[in-house]
Amino acid sequence: MKTGLTLFALISLIISGCQPQKSSIKPGEVWEDDNGLFINAHGGGVLYHDGTYYLYGEMKEGETYLPECNKSWGGTRVDVTGVSCYSSNDLFNWKYEGVVLPAVEDDPSHDLYKGNVLERPKVIYNAKTNKFVMWMHVDSKDYSKAAAGVAVSNFPTGPFEYIESFRPNAGVWPVNAAEADTTEGILARDFEGGQMARDMTIFVDDDEKAYQFYSSENNATMHISELTDDYLRPTGKYKRVFPGRKMEAPAVFKKEGRYYFIASGCTAWEPNPARSAVAESIWGPWEELGNPCIGEGAEKTFTSQSTYVLPVQGKSDAFIFMADRWNKDDLPDSRYIWLPIKFDESGKIVLEWHDEWDLSVFDK
Ligand code: GAL
Repeated sequence: MKTGLTLFALISLIISGCQPQKSSIKPGEVWEDDNGLFINAHGGGVLYHDGTYYLYGEMKEGETYLPECNKSWGGTRVDVTGVSCYSSNDLFNWKYEGVVLPAVEDDPSHDLYKGNVLERPKVIYNAKTNKFVMWMHVDSKDYSKAAAGVAVSNFPTGPFEYIESFRPNAGVWPVNAAEADTTEGILARDFEGGQMARDMTIFVDDDEKAYQFYSSENNATMHISELTDDYLRPTGKYKRVFPGRKMEAPAVFKKEGRYYFIASGCTAWEPNPARSAVAESIWGPWEELGNPCIGEGAEKTFTSQSTYVLPVQGKSDAFIFMADRWNKDDLPDSRYIWLPIKFDESGKIVLEWHDEWDLSVFDK
């Protein structure tokens, strides 16, 4: 007869029961999960669903190496392991839910082959189809593929089924294409095959319309691209924003009807001054608000790069800036920088360093 609990499950239960409960966020320190293991979810995003927060990110394991093809720009990497998931009810204590989209070990022709690139996964829930939809940046080792990947699941904790990758918006011009854009430049070059899509995020608006923001045109210009009602494809309506501003690591949120945007500059794993912007409509016009960071470390975004903005449930206008402190020589040891977002009198985003903080900062 089988017993209900395997020995492994029993040991995990005992270990997790022994973990001290956390009640604060300590940016840059080692964050442990319910098993006492380092939380491994880089370039991540958070979904809130039915009373639980789900954190998804790049699981980075193994040796960090610099492939020959990336030597000129210092593009170190680890082999892809997959997308990890953690759940929490309080944003401090995280339960490991496993690798919800694993890498493919043995098929070099597969998008998710461990020698390729899988970055910045973001999961959204589609109420019409009752599916959880994951978007991610899928690339070749040398980052020349520059594509968006999509996977789906019936559950927030997976398993996710990988559907496909593509370059968005093949054969369509953006709503604001200038005459010159249609004859010369990268937008025109990629018109037929689809637009380059590297760093990305997904934003779901109050009316449940979803949008992909992606660094396009070889990272020179951001595109905002509307998704179909099932969230699986672009509709073909898209816009070029921040032309030539070389922004990466986009994060988007909405406060009191206004859309806010945070991103980084384009310096690979090295930190740079963050960017921010605001708009009355998702389609713009977007007004740049400059580097939102103040105080010591502001010029390097406190040695980090944005990845997501997390709306805190049950509090009004409470948002957490999520960022990665990359360690380019030992990528699995990259840390997490989460900071509360403040707004000044003029409505600009303000980010300040905190060694340790909790959600009571939003009550002030
Ligand atoms: C960064 C980008 C990361 C990763 C890295 C590779 O600029 O934001 O997601 O692609 O470059 O060096």
